[in-house]
Amino acid sequence: MPIINPVSSPVDPLAAKPSAITDVVRFERVGLRYGRGPEILSDVNMRLARGSFTFLTGPSGAGKSTLLKLCYLTLKQSRGLINLFESDISIMSRAEQQATKRRIGVVLQDFRLIEHLSVFENVALPLRVTGEPRETYRQDVMELLQWVGLGHVMEAMPQTLSGGEQQRAAIARAVISKPDLLIADEPTGNVDPVIGRRLLRLFSEMNRMGATVLIATHDINLISEFSADVIRIEDGQLLSGLQNGHAHG
Ligand SMILES: Nc1ncnc2c1ncn2[C@@H]1O[C@H](COP(=O)(O)OP(=O)(O)OP(=O)(O)O)[C@@H](O)[C@H]1O
Ligand SMILES: [Mg+2]
Repeated sequence: MPIINPVSSPVDPLAAKPSAITDVVRFERVGLRYGRGPEILSDVNMRLARGSFTFLTGPSGAGKSTLLKLCYLTLKQSRGLINLFESDISIMSRAEQQATKRRIGVVLQDFRLIEHLSVFENVALPLRVTGEPRETYRQDVMELLQWVGLGHVMEAMPQTLSGGEQQRAAIARAVISKPDLLIADEPTGNVDPVIGRRLLRLFSEMNRMGATVLIATHDINLISEFSADVIRIEDGQLLSGLQNGHAHG
């Protein structure tokens, strides 16, 4: 009996919903200002098609983290339209917003690991909150931690880890629940190039299994090694349609 890939199988109930959607993220003339400050983003139009892999670049302070926050619903736009999974976020109920957030895996610039939980427990948390019994995910969490090179510190507390190790734990936590949309803010900012490439391969693998990926990064070397769309923020504007010509390294 042939092995059927559960991700591409048309009868997989989990695949049924995302596959009906073509745009995972859509911005139309989005503007964002903090308080009474100047517009950080102006008239941003952006479309992330389902299954796309996109790098977001631009100078420090340009608004990359701000744009990502709009995509994972921790910031509300000042004007314009934002659709996530083809639903207008401004008319979503609180429950719909929570359900939408559960479909998004996020790696923040400052990690936000929970201090009183071990590395294992931090990474397992997104699965634990769904009520899954520990035995069903224990092996997955351990394998993922080994893959990101944290097999030896699974039971350690986050504050005893280096910055790069905390970063890897944060990435493991973001991908463990196989989110439909994966958003990462400078995910390779604290690791050496070898680990950075390995982490990028993890994102690439998630993408191959169907996740739409958006990564903000300054790391030009990394971008040049991966075949992906590249968009750039400059002076509040989004310059898109830049295609990275390089093939996978
Ligand atoms: N909470 C906030 N309140 C007021 N202004 C803010 C806030 N967060 C960010 N800003 C301002 O918005 C602009 C964009 O910041 P953002 O963090 O999005 O930039 P970035 O492109 O992610 O930069 P970096 O590459 O350094 O991470 C900056 O001028 C910043 O000072
Ligand atoms: Mg930033």
